Amino acid sequence: MTSSSPAPVESSATASRPMPAPGPRRPAIRSTGLTKHYGARAAVDGIDLEIPDGVIAGFVGPNGSGKTTTIRMLLALVSPSAGEAEVLGTSIRNPGDYLPRVGALIEGPAFYPTLSGRRNLEVLTTLGGIPRSRVEEVLDLVELRERAGDHVRTYSMGMKQRLGIAAAMLPNPEVLILDEPANGLDPAGILEMRRLLSRLRDQGITIFISSHLLSEVEQVADWILVLKDGRLLFQGPTADLLSRRHGRLLVAAEHEAGLTTVATIAEVAGFKVARVNGHLEVDAPASFAAQLNRQAMAAGVTLVEISRSHASLEETFLDLTNGETR
Ligand SMILES: Nc1ncnc2c1ncn2[C@@H]1O[C@H](COP(=O)(O)OP(=O)(O)OP(=O)(O)O)[C@@H](O)[C@H]1O
Ligand SMILES: [Mg+2]
Repeated sequence: MTSSSPAPVESSATASRPMPAPGPRRPAIRSTGLTKHYGARAAVDGIDLEIPDGVIAGFVGPNGSGKTTTIRMLLALVSPSAGEAEVLGTSIRNPGDYLPRVGALIEGPAFYPTLSGRRNLEVLTTLGGIPRSRVEEVLDLVELRERAGDHVRTYSMGMKQRLGIAAAMLPNPEVLILDEPANGLDPAGILEMRRLLSRLRDQGITIFISSHLLSEVEQVADWILVLKDGRLLFQGPTADLLSRRHGRLLVAAEHEAGLTTVATIAEVAGFKVARVNGHLEVDAPASFAAQLNRQAMAAGVTLVEISRSHASLEETFLDLTNGETR
């Protein structure tokens, strides 16, 4: 079926540690050189994932960057062209050994529109050999119990997505993999989705969630992975992505004409500048403020404001994903 390399994925010292103590634990998902070619094109191009146990990991990238393809490989729906991956310590070449512990929602969930949400879940428990009692539990989890008796065709987009997550939660998974669960949701729906994901994470479930918008996941994700053209541009704690934001100084002078002098001072010091609404934006760290102030003063320009601002996380993301082109 899959490629025929004989050796199982090598297990590192971390992976073979006996019991998950409070310290570092085996990653929930890991890959090395994971690659998928469609014809000559690499949809996923040698990615090394490492997603810690128990986090919400946001998998972010523009359309066509390879998110769904990666997720399909992790769920053994397509086989990699090269590389290895492990989910819950098990190679994706042995899907039977880990898929029962993984819940997934990929593309829009398919439900019978003329059955109720509850009935749809009951059908799934029958198919999956799951105790019927789970149905009410997962309905509670996604806060859908009140409308559980209504036909699915009467559900809002957000309710359908939550029913999809309820379905993915039926087997009581340790890892939940969701492909663009916030797609098409309005701000209230996105907020509900975030609350739901946080609740699930607080129960110890590792959540791997994709989105083409960083803004959709940045507030809920502990861990961020940025994908572009099948390559991983960043992975790590969300705070680390935040710390990559470059600082800026926003400068105002007593007389706006003085900003030309300030611009020259900043450019000579090697920083980019831009005029914004009567201010000068200087792409420089806070540490440059004192020098700028002194030099402006020496040149006869009185500054009336020097404030710091940061690029937004979204801008940082765009900087990352547009790195080659802009
Ligand atoms: N079955 C397939 N056959 C050929 N090419 C494919 C196939 N599936 C995906 N691709 C290509 O692989 C690349 C990555 O697609 P993928 O669907 O993984 O991206 P994505 O990040 O999920 O995008 P989106 O945000 O639009 O969902 C795209 O260029 C796509 O056209
Ligand atoms: Mg996709």
